[in-house]
Amino acid sequence: TGYITFDPGFGNTGTCRSAITYMDGEKGILRYRGIPIEQLAEHSTFVETAFLLITGQLPTREELTRTSVYLNDFSPLHENMKAFYQNYPPKAHPMGILSAMVNAMRSFYPELIDLEEEMNKTYLRLISKIRTMAAMAYRISLGERVVYPRPDLCYCANFLNMMFDSVVVPYHVDDDLVRALNVFWILHADHEQNCSTTAVRVVGSGKVNIYSTISAGISALWGPLHGGANQAVVNMLEDIHKKGLTIKDCIAKAKDKTDPFRLMGFGHRVYKTYDPRAKIMKKMGDIILSKIKRKDPLLDIAQRLEEAALKDSYFKEKNLYPNVDFYSGIVLRAMGIPTNMFTVMFAIGRLPGWIAQWKEDVSDPEMKISRPRQIYTGHQERGYIPIDDRE
Ligand code: CMC
Repeated sequence: TGYITFDPGFGNTGTCRSAITYMDGEKGILRYRGIPIEQLAEHSTFVETAFLLITGQLPTREELTRTSVYLNDFSPLHENMKAFYQNYPPKAHPMGILSAMVNAMRSFYPELIDLEEEMNKTYLRLISKIRTMAAMAYRISLGERVVYPRPDLCYCANFLNMMFDSVVVPYHVDDDLVRALNVFWILHADHEQNCSTTAVRVVGSGKVNIYSTISAGISALWGPLHGGANQAVVNMLEDIHKKGLTIKDCIAKAKDKTDPFRLMGFGHRVYKTYDPRAKIMKKMGDIILSKIKRKDPLLDIAQRLEEAALKDSYFKEKNLYPNVDFYSGIVLRAMGIPTNMFTVMFAIGRLPGWIAQWKEDVSDPEMKISRPRQIYTGHQERGYIPIDDRE
């Protein structure tokens, strides 16, 4: 095998050069284009952060207005795309629908041109339409009428309205929930070379179109070890709640190597301390529940679970701390988002990061098609045996 190094999960391989996101896993630092995540969560909006990630700079007022105009203009979906939804099995997971729809955009919006200006419109078209697609998937899964985007609402308010407005009970757009959604999406907007972003870079390196590349990222995100963890955390907390499992049993189960159960929302490949996003998410959960004056029994379970895990020697020795997904489900539940939409919410948030990483990859003249090597462990050469002679 000579010079080839075995590196499962690419833990020690720098697969690209990137100027987008900085992470320090020991100190718990996360910055987008140099700006600390805490400052963005406090002052920015999702749309502004998306602009920052993709272009490298915070927008001027004029640039931000122009971006919002495009996001509004692009928000309706091609009528024929709607037929897709109706033909999916009723319980189809929205992540499966979303990746198929995004892939289909290549056929419905073929005007991909290499011009920079056109590409910028393509990014905004994606960011705008993914929100419409996600909300529409949800409404159709309930057998309810589709709510069209409203030009008077901002990106996040529009999404909540498309999800929850109804003729019977018109949706009241709540500023606190809109702020919470902005923060939720800002926290998810990029995370350097994670599994789905790596999928985007690998697939994109073959020079496939951007829609199919992003669709691959959505598929990668679906897994419970990655973006699917937010749904898995809430399923786990609900299980503890319903079955009356004790925190002690749960911790013991997570430590038992003969049991495949893991404490979902704990541990991270890079963070060996508290995930800075989890800190903000936890605070956001507290704020939002107190503002809407609702108690969530799952928050209490999560807090007790965290406390017990952080005191436990197994978790301490392995540096396992809560990650972004541990409290994100609590925030989403407070907004009224159903559990099977959680990973879709992550996907909408991660989209600007995928776009920025794809753009960086394809514009770096030194990048090549991804083509790793392997350590071959199969047979040496052997002869073909005709079927009648096989034992
Ligand atoms: N519960 C119990 N044990 C764990 C956990 C956990 N959540 N996470 C890691 N470990 C143990 C693991 O069994 C291993 O033990 P040993 O060294 O004795 O074999 C050790 O800690 C290292 O784990 P690993 O799986 O080798 O670490 P990794 O870097 O390959 O995996 C991870 C990182 C996030 C996939 C993993 O910690 C995990 O499965 N966590 C639960 C799922 C989760 O919360 N995922 C969301 C990640 S953050 C958002 C995102 O990126 O999407």
